[in-house]
Amino acid sequence: MILSSNSKNLKLCAELIRKDDIVAVPTETVYGLAGNALSETAVRKIFEIKGRPLIDPLIVHCFDYTAALELIVNNSLIDHLAKQFWPGPLTIIAQKKALIPDIVTAGLKSVAIRVPSQTELQKLLKISKVPLAAPSANPFGYVSPTEASHVKRTLGEKITAILDGGRTLHGVESTIIDARNENKPLLLRYGPIDPIMLEQHLNYPLLVQTTTRNENRAQNAPGLLSKHYSPRARVHLVNQTALVEAVKTIAGSQAIVSIKKSQKLIHHPGYHWLSEDGCLETAANNLFALLQNLDEQKYKEITIELAENSGIGLAINDRLKRAAAK
Ligand code: TXA
Ligand code: MG
Repeated sequence: MILSSNSKNLKLCAELIRKDDIVAVPTETVYGLAGNALSETAVRKIFEIKGRPLIDPLIVHCFDYTAALELIVNNSLIDHLAKQFWPGPLTIIAQKKALIPDIVTAGLKSVAIRVPSQTELQKLLKISKVPLAAPSANPFGYVSPTEASHVKRTLGEKITAILDGGRTLHGVESTIIDARNENKPLLLRYGPIDPIMLEQHLNYPLLVQTTTRNENRAQNAPGLLSKHYSPRARVHLVNQTALVEAVKTIAGSQAIVSIKKSQKLIHHPGYHWLSEDGCLETAANNLFALLQNLDEQKYKEITIELAENSGIGLAINDRLKRAAAK
């Protein structure tokens, strides 16, 4: 059931969480499937509902930095990043304290932690008084949800409550940085906070490791499987020139998607775009919603233009490459 975010419903969601139930919640990135991070029972339910392998660890969401410090071992890099980017779409990998059940981290000694900025989620974290473990609220491997209706469509029968926060702000998942070694900040997933924004606040060069070497073990690099975020339709990636060529041979079950709306192409059936003006923030915001929408329209193939490789374009291209992986 989709619940509008008034105080009565927020209280209801907090009660569900305290009873080890699972609630879908809005964040500023994508919707999450949330349960009490300190309860093994609740966390087990999250894995079951999502169909997620137990080797893929979860992100823990805290009300504020002080609450996060109860769960992690701090260092100067974490301190700096947290003060700079929290609340917001940055997940920090830190050494975990014993309070966090092993199931949350797939047995790893580290934990992924963030303080979200989304207003309703902030309120829920405040009144439920527990940290929330939450992966994106999609069946494992599928496109992440950016609206309550996306969660309802794919997981609605398995959960009692979906807290509605409208369309999410960023539309792609948080940036993940491993900050356990103060001298070696390591970017594990591209997201709304891009490398240049991060580097302005680092004393050491940012290393990047966004691909996973062993997909069958709990991840040191994140469980970013090479195939992920995939719609049912097959995804092909092209540059702008190839996109214009592809439109000429487009068939009924094929969709073509550009980053910026092209007046020349709008008369072609099956043509879609991610932004009016090429703004990459807008394109990121629309990306998952469009992929879900094209699936609903039963397109079999989606040919989609890669974004410019900068800013949030890095996150868009990362998600597109995983969506296109076979
Ligand atoms: O924006 C987001 O981060 C959303 C919202 C709901 O907060 N959450 C999200 O969660 O994207 P999920 O579970 O879909 O992706 C979390 C990623 C996974 O790839 C996981 O393997 C990685 O974080 N991760 C979790 N704990 C880790 C750890 N201790 N070390 C390395 N990677 C970790
Ligand atoms: Mg996910």
